[in-house]
Amino acid sequence: MALKLNIIGAYFLSLLLALASARKPLVFDVTTYGAQLNMDITQALSNAWKDACASPIRGKVLIPRGTYKLSRATLEGPCKVPIKVQLQGTLRAPTDPSGFNEGDGWVTFRNVDGLTLAGGGTFDGQGSAVWGKNCEQQQYCGKLPINFRFDFVTNSLIRDIISLNSKQFHINVLGGQNVTFSRVKIIAPEDSPNTDGIHIGRSSGISITDTVIQTGDDCVSLGDGCKEISIRRVTCGPGHGISVGSLGKYSNEDPVEGVIVRNCTIRNTSNGVRVKTWPDSHDGLASNLHFEDIVMENVGNPVLIDQEYCPWNQCNAKVPSRIKISDVSFKNIRGTSTTALAVNLVCSSGFPCQNVEIADIDLQYSGNDGPIMSQCKNVKPTISGKQNPNPCAT
Ligand SMILES: *[C@@H]1O[C@H](CO)[C@@H](O)[C@H](O)[C@H]1NC(C)=O
Ligand SMILES: *[C@@H]1O[C@H](CO)[C@@H](O)[C@H](O)[C@H]1NC(C)=O
Ligand SMILES: *[C@@H]1O[C@H](CO)[C@@H](O)[C@H](O)[C@H]1NC(C)=O
Repeated sequence: MALKLNIIGAYFLSLLLALASARKPLVFDVTTYGAQLNMDITQALSNAWKDACASPIRGKVLIPRGTYKLSRATLEGPCKVPIKVQLQGTLRAPTDPSGFNEGDGWVTFRNVDGLTLAGGGTFDGQGSAVWGKNCEQQQYCGKLPINFRFDFVTNSLIRDIISLNSKQFHINVLGGQNVTFSRVKIIAPEDSPNTDGIHIGRSSGISITDTVIQTGDDCVSLGDGCKEISIRRVTCGPGHGISVGSLGKYSNEDPVEGVIVRNCTIRNTSNGVRVKTWPDSHDGLASNLHFEDIVMENVGNPVLIDQEYCPWNQCNAKVPSRIKISDVSFKNIRGTSTTALAVNLVCSSGFPCQNVEIADIDLQYSGNDGPIMSQCKNVKPTISGKQNPNPCAT
């Protein structure tokens, strides 16, 4: 009888424990795995992640306040249940990028469902020593590591973190689904090469909100296979602005379908919102692209479709792009342009853009290249509301 009661007691006790822990996640603090201030925590983080990931009870990996070194982290799932990484302190990458191959991440999350990355901490890529070095071509330094790779990460939230001075792109999302970036800060100097903020490819349901991105390259760029992408209340600049593309350089690119950029401020950038595709390209599609309620301050090429995108003369610009662009709108875009040609829609002569709408454009230009202008090539947009510059003037 006593034995039976004990068994029942133990059963209830474990049920209670399970209930309690369901509410409060287990904490896997890297300092209990040997992490020490100013030391390399690569092994400690890896071990804490492995335990948290294998735990059947929700856990969080904690990196407390203070500065630590991290050579590299590859944090792989699948995990048993959703998992959190909370960085309160600062992680510093090695200044020497040797050992990283083309496309590698400094911190990589792979095959994780239900990741939360938060905590207010800083991932410092320490790029300044190597920017512009290790380059195979012109300015492109592919072997430099990307601060973050999110490969096949789903149903996840990245919130309140800082990505600082990445050696190359800051954040690369591949094969993601339902991932939100919120209150993220991405910072690198204006003259740092290829330090794109967030690049997304082959992913769906990705949102970026309430985020500040100041870099030397694109603020957000969307590669092939992006679907249902939402960019809201993002402040960009300096940098190269928000872009869809470049598309059409490679065969078998997936369509880009469903992009909304809304309530954003773009400041001191070389471009505002643009869609770029290579001439002499492979087939492809980009449709349902909407840019609304955007403030431009000191922005070059604020509104741009460029189907003759051909940097460093790497292509035959005379052969039209084969990317079909359709259902695009630019609405309520106001502010200041640093180029006289403020609205520039250059579509493909082989595949003119279909169903383009421009409404309520109010841009000012005060430079010396004449009055503010717009151009429409191979596109006949629907026009409404205020129009400054006059639409399709040339
Ligand atoms: C999307 O991910 C969030 C976590 O950020 C999750 O709470 C939500 O349930 C997911 N939505 C769907 C439809 O799975
Ligand atoms: C979005 O922008 C519109 C137009 O500028 C403005 O009326 C609205 O309040 C903004 N919404 C948010 C949530 O910032
Ligand atoms: C933007 O550019 C202007 C003029 O070049 C400069 O005065 C200003 O400081 C810049 N603002 C920022 C936030 O970089």
